[in-house]
Amino acid sequence: MAAVYRFLSLLVIATTLLSTTTVAEIRSTEIRSDARSTIPFDEFGFTHSGRLELNVSRIALSYPDGEPKPDLKQVGFFLCTRDAWIHVLDQVVRREISCPFQSNLIKQIFTFDKLQNSDRYDSTYNITEANLFTLVFGNCVPNLKVSMGVQSAMYNLDDKSNRRDYLSAGKTNLPWIYFLFFLIYSILAGIWIYVLYSKRLSVFRIHFFMLAVLMLKALNLLCETEDKSYIKKTGTAHGWDVLFYIFSFLKGITLFTLIVLIGTGWSFLKPYLQDKEKKVLMIVIPLQVIANLAQVVIDETGPFGQDSYTWKQVFLLVDVICCCAVLFPIVWSIKNLREAARTDGKAAVNLMKLTLFRQYYIVVICYIYFTRVVVYALETITSYRYQWTSVVAAELATLAFYVFTGYNFKPKVHNPYFALDDEEEEAAAEELKRLDDEFEL
Ligand SMILES: *[C@@H]1O[C@H](CO)[C@@H](O)[C@H](O)[C@H]1NC(C)=O
Ligand SMILES: *[C@@H]1O[C@H](CO)[C@@H](O)[C@H](O)[C@H]1NC(C)=O
Repeated sequence: MAAVYRFLSLLVIATTLLSTTTVAEIRSTEIRSDARSTIPFDEFGFTHSGRLELNVSRIALSYPDGEPKPDLKQVGFFLCTRDAWIHVLDQVVRREISCPFQSNLIKQIFTFDKLQNSDRYDSTYNITEANLFTLVFGNCVPNLKVSMGVQSAMYNLDDKSNRRDYLSAGKTNLPWIYFLFFLIYSILAGIWIYVLYSKRLSVFRIHFFMLAVLMLKALNLLCETEDKSYIKKTGTAHGWDVLFYIFSFLKGITLFTLIVLIGTGWSFLKPYLQDKEKKVLMIVIPLQVIANLAQVVIDETGPFGQDSYTWKQVFLLVDVICCCAVLFPIVWSIKNLREAARTDGKAAVNLMKLTLFRQYYIVVICYIYFTRVVVYALETITSYRYQWTSVVAAELATLAFYVFTGYNFKPKVHNPYFALDDEEEEAAAEELKRLDDEFEL
């Protein structure tokens, strides 16, 4: 159990460090009577030929009667990198400045004193400094409430064709990466179908389930490819995004179900599920539904959207519970196998199964740890220009997990009366005894 708790605490640490995704789309936001001093919009990685289009309409300002006319030089939009923002906050704390617009670390886009009795402002800016910028609305006038509709688009221009690329620098090759993994999973599905066909006499129901998981993963990657290349070209995500959400949803549910089913030994070790194993499924499946809903909300509202933070917390909490829940059936199976090894005489066969399940337990933990914690760490430490590397790392880890699972639980010609000589049987019994002593879960 100690291993499970250690694992749990690591995941909880990851909860507090949730990643922010940079979705670069044309975005439209309504601000209503808002007095916040800063409102972040989108974050985008610009190349040397980037551009920001900002259309602000229906601008209405309201401030309490009797107060002097506000200084509108202190209200407006600016771009800022994360590092610069920390310095600006520091300057404010040290009272060197009282408003971000007085700092030369930000890139001022426009301030409301330029409005000249108009209620809208449309503008386009060339960004020539390659960096990761956040578009922020700043309001340094106390008690001033702002209402407006904000349409923003950030994109880079291709050097040669001058075409717009709405994917942030560092994410612009994601369509290719997803397509490559789609091809790999398609090939794996082909191989798996061939294995099922050639070993059809020793195929269990779970092997067809594994095929379904593999195909859903491939379809999910195909939709992700389409989705990302659609965003890249148009800046909006309304191509295949619904299909993408459906397949992610099915993939999430089936993958967790598969891990639980394999963990219980269903159809390998026994044809039915015990009540407590069914309970794990009854917890994991609804939680996956919630996790997927949360993911849709997070994706659709963008990193700074309202409620996005709450949904991120919900997603992480649910994810942590699911990840821990799937470990229990494996632990139970290992326990059962050890008991069986003590009572029935077939030491060699039991040792084989026990070793397999112990490996599986460790691999599931590594998979979860890698895709949750290590990938997050990579995302945080790599420069925005290499954001694709964390996607590749996560996909490679997932691929390795699929290959391990497929290879180790593939249909085997199974013969319970497998002839073993006494020497091998004795060695296995010795080994089982040693494991018994050292491996206390
Ligand atoms: C931005 O760059 C384009 C060419 O890429 C040029 O036509 C346009 O005048 C520039 N705009 C500004 C405001 O510098
Ligand atoms: C801003 O307005 C211009 C002209 O009205 C339009 O061409 C452009 O697409 C708008 N940009 C966004 C991001 O809405």
